[in-house]
This record gives sequence, structure tokens and C-alpha cells, in this order.
Amino acid sequence: MTDETRTYAVPSRVAEGSPNLFPSMDAYREVSQDVKNDPDAFWLGVTKDRIAWRKEPTIGLDGSFHDIAKNQISWFGDGTLNITESCIDRHVDAHPDKVAIIWEGDEPGDGRTLTYRELHEEVCKTANALRELGLKKGERAIIYMGMVPEAAIAMLACARLGAVHSVVFGGFSAEALRDRILDCGAEIVITQDIGRRGGRDIPLKEVTVQATAATPSVKKVLVYKRTNTEVPWDHERDVWWHDAVNSASADCPAVECAAEDPLFILYTSGSTGKPKGLVHTCGGYLTWASFTHQEVFDLRDDDVYACVADVGWITGHSYIVYGPLANGATTLMFESTPLYPDAGRYWDVVQRHKVTVFYTAPTAIRALAAKGDDFVTKYDRSSLRVLGTVGEPINPAAWEWYYDVVGEGRCNIVDTWWQTETGGIMITPIACATPTRAGSATFPMVGIEPILLDDEARRIRGPGEGKLCVEFPWPGMARTVWGDHDRYVGTYFTTYKPYYFTGDGCRRDAQGYHWITGRVDDVLNVSGHRMGTAEFESALVSAEAVAEAAVVGFPHDIKGQGVYAYIVLQPGVDASDSIEAELKQVCRTAIGAHAVVDLFQIVPGLPKTRSGKVMRRILRKVAEGEPEKLGDVSTLADPSVVDAIVAGAKKL
Ligand code: WT7
Repeated sequence: MTDETRTYAVPSRVAEGSPNLFPSMDAYREVSQDVKNDPDAFWLGVTKDRIAWRKEPTIGLDGSFHDIAKNQISWFGDGTLNITESCIDRHVDAHPDKVAIIWEGDEPGDGRTLTYRELHEEVCKTANALRELGLKKGERAIIYMGMVPEAAIAMLACARLGAVHSVVFGGFSAEALRDRILDCGAEIVITQDIGRRGGRDIPLKEVTVQATAATPSVKKVLVYKRTNTEVPWDHERDVWWHDAVNSASADCPAVECAAEDPLFILYTSGSTGKPKGLVHTCGGYLTWASFTHQEVFDLRDDDVYACVADVGWITGHSYIVYGPLANGATTLMFESTPLYPDAGRYWDVVQRHKVTVFYTAPTAIRALAAKGDDFVTKYDRSSLRVLGTVGEPINPAAWEWYYDVVGEGRCNIVDTWWQTETGGIMITPIACATPTRAGSATFPMVGIEPILLDDEARRIRGPGEGKLCVEFPWPGMARTVWGDHDRYVGTYFTTYKPYYFTGDGCRRDAQGYHWITGRVDDVLNVSGHRMGTAEFESALVSAEAVAEAAVVGFPHDIKGQGVYAYIVLQPGVDASDSIEAELKQVCRTAIGAHAVVDLFQIVPGLPKTRSGKVMRRILRKVAEGEPEKLGDVSTLADPSVVDAIVAGAKKL
């Protein structure tokens, strides 16, 4: 059993010599107090230090959670900038030959590096090419790519023009891609012929063709050539990257934007079937990404920083591209998987590139721990100083393996809690300062006031467990849902008004450590991939054989959560042998390759109250293998369905 009160002191080599704001817990507490006393002064100071503004802002926060229904929150509202000047131009002046991006391709050792000078040139050329294709300030471009440097270049090129990018994770299906294109009205789609991952081909261009069959807003499709595979081609609409970009001028003045102009839209799943396009804006987002990246990882000048997430998720935006580049760091982009060609790949990468800061997800840590220590220990990991984790709660056993085996007790672990909505890290250790506890995200970032609410929405002071909310605005928060501010307000600011409601549960122990307990809403977190139960359900009921479907999560040793689907068939339809395979395919088509149902159970009916509401609590308990804890079922319209559900329960 893990001792949850065991505290891990910061190893001395991690604690020593920090050039950053929080070399110690005392410094952290002091600054926390300063921010509380005068948040505007603090964040204005931070942003002026960190960001290359054209016109420096004089205003900090404008707005509050109380009137967010009417007024969007604004930070640094009178400032102007182009974020690429912060991420590239000034580093070209300061250190043109420093490596900006290390690309590790799918095959071990296949890759390339780009210096800040080279990145600048590529971004400028790509921006000119996009302008030539018609992309203008404020217009949207969808980026549907794998993990190639061109994905980051495309993001920055859009930002150079003041255009708004929306990266769609390369695992999403044609339908999912189409829905996102339609929702934001994209003018341009940027993709590649084929994506590579774990030795496999991902037909990105082909999926794009299907997705854009009826999307009138899309004028051009820019295609990066990753392989030599032939792909379907529309001579009117499609343009090769190498044709458009290579011939473009490398001189591209950056377009001046307002602090609150949108930088990107990123779609994420919630409690309905329709993903929300969260909008992040230029000034506040970049300030938060830059500040948190520097301080949490205790960034040093010569760090080789590797976050092995995908640019299709917020982690890739904030901690592969925007945070590290704003900080003039060397950031690694990883095209492959932790298991390709074998379970030693991460540590092979660490050894070859002398990685100092490594950031991954609990699901990968668990999968690798299960493969044994030899895959780790055969590589030299002595360069490592900081190990990060993000995406889902990390169980203490996985944390300890990361600490002891990967880090050999010489690294601090930063378990960083945050969300697509928060833009950047919110609750986290500071690498050089915070004594950690296995499985705890520890303490809030300065300026963040996490609050726990009990079932009656009363604030819990001191130790306790409840719904996690945030009390005050912070610069990195998403400002709205694209085209639907009411949905933004309804989702985040209505249940526990006037607080921001995260959707997570959290426990605070006697020493103030925070332990995230997982989602308390209908959002699933499968291998760090966020999906709504409603997304699965709407896919499943679209199948002809299905009358009703209810989907819940259950604990899964590697994935964190597995997906359990209860299916009511249409009258007259019998459960055939092929039904599960068919329904799996339905989810793949509607959502994507990552939307996998682990267990199906065909049931005679769903447990509903007399008013027709599905009692998900019952379905969850059965899926969790705890049917003895069902509680009161007497309010059900037909309690007998529960017996059938319990009797037919499935297990992995
Ligand atoms: C949800 C947000 C943050 C970038 C990747 C996921 C869960 C995230 C942690 C953590 C426990 C975590 C939460 C959160 N989560 N980090 N360190 N400990 N849970 O972003 O897709 O927006 O998902 O991921 O449940 O609400 P996302």
C-alpha cells in the first residue's frame, strides 16, 4: 500500500540553481500573496517581461465571472501584438542558431532539427503561401496533420497572418473533421498525404477528401508530402505544400492583432454529442503558456525539453509549440508511440537527444511499467531532471515507478492538472521547489484559487473532497465557445455560479495537497483522450439495430478508464455475432480510431426513473463491478431491468 502522506523532498540537483521565480516554497508562497494582493499589477508585469508586445497593455483584467454571460473576460485589452514575434523573431535576434524544434520521426533516429532562424524562414514562407491561397486575418484554417514540424509551422503561419487555426487530432474520423470544419467555417484545410505512427500509415488526405465533400467554406487544401504514396487529388482545390511554400518569399511582416483577438479554436468533448470549440486569445493565452512552461518545469537555458503529446490536443498547443517557443526553448516533436518499435522508445529518445525535461501521460507510464524495467534501464537517462505527467489522475503505483525506475530518484515529478479550457497548467508542483506526494497534483499555480464545493454547493475550507471550481479569472482561460457564448456560460459558469466549474472532483488533504479524483460529469477520459458519453451514445443509436444506448466509464488498468456500452436493440432484432464489430465500426466512423468501446452488454431496457431519465449511477456501478452498491432502485419505472443488467454484466 502506498503511504499517501509520504512526501518526496526535491532532489538536490533539481533544487539547485533555479534561475526562475520560485526557487523555494517560501518564494512560491510570497509570490502567491503578491498576486492575491494585486493581480493586475502582477500579470501586467509578467506579460511585459515575457511577451513581445507591439503596444504594451496598461489594463490587466476586465470583467468578472459574475457578469460573464454579458461580457467576455478580457486580459491586457489595450495591448497589441503578433504572437509569432514572441515565439520566433526575438529569438532569431538573440540566438539564431539555437535549435527550436527537434523532430524525432516515427522510425528511430529518423528526423531533423530546425534552428530559430530556420523556423522563422519556414513560418514566413508558409504564411506567404497561405496568404496567396486567400487566408486573411480572422479567417479559420483547419490543421489536420500528424506530428511533423510542418504542423507547428502551419499553426505559427496562421498566427503570423492573424488567422485562427483549429487543429483537429489526426485520429478523428471524416465525420468528426467535417463537423469541425462546418462549425468554424474554415476557409482552408492544411493536411498531409499520409501520417506515420507506430509503423502504420494514417490516410489523412483521403479522410480530408471525405470530410470536405460538402463543406462550402473550404476554398483550398494545402497538402504536406510526408511519404511517396499516391493520394486522391483535386486539381482545382488541392495544392502541394512544397509547390506553394518553397517558392514563397521568406519575408512576411507579422500582422498586428489585438490582445483579445482569437489565436485558435480547439474542439473538446463535453456532456452533449456536439464538441465545443473553445476559443483562446492571443495575449492572455500566450502569457499563461509561457509563464507556466517556464516556472512549472523550472526551464533552464540549455534544457532539451520533450513533451510527447500530440499537437491535436491542448497539451501539444501549450507545451510543445506555444509555451516552449515563447520561451526560446528547444522543443522536441515526437511522431511515434511509446511502444514503437518497442517499449524502450521514450528512453532511447531521451538518451540520443539528452532530454532534460520529459512530459508524458499516465496511460503511457502504466503501459510501459507493465513491460518491465529492462526497457528503461538499458538506456542512459542521466540527462533527465524533471518528469511531467498530465491528462488524467496518476495512480500512486505508476507515479512511484516513474519516480524510482525512470528517474532513479534523481528527478522531481510534476503532476500537472489542467484542461483544454484553462489553456495551461493550474494545479501543479514547481519542479525545483515543491515536495511531492505520489499521485497528487499538489498546489495551485500562483493566482489560481481552487475551491471545493460539497453536494450542497457549500465551500469546503481546509481538508475535504468535493467538486473542483476556480474562484477568479486567469489570463490563459478560454474566453468563449466559438459561435455559442451561451453554451460556454451554461457549461462552466452556471452550475456553481459565480465560480468556474471544472467538471472534476478533488480532495484536499490536511497539508493542502490536491488530489484530483476524476470527472464528475459525463466526460470520459480514456488513455488521456477526452470523449463524451453522449458522443458515443449518439453514434451508437445511429445504427439501425439499436433502439437505445447508454455509455459509462469503468476503471481500466492501463487506459485509466474503459468504455462500457449498454445497448437496447430494436424490437425484432436479435443479437448477432457480428453486432459488436458493427457497433465498434460505427463509433470509429462517427468519432475516430481512438473511440473504442471495450465492453458491450445487450440489455432488455435501460434503468429509467418514472420521468424517463436514465439512472446512470446504476449503470456505472455495474460497469465498475460493484452491483452490490446499487443503492435505492425503488424509484425506477421498471426495477426488473436491473436484475437483467446485473445478471448479464460483462468484465474484461
Ligand atoms: C481533463 C481535461 C490538460 C491537458 C490534457 C487533457 C483530466 C488532466 C490531470 C491530472 C488528474 C487530469 C481532468 C481534466 N486531467 N490533467 N494531472 N490529474 N486529472 O486536457 O482533454 O481538456 O482534459 O483531464 O479530468 O478535466 P483535456
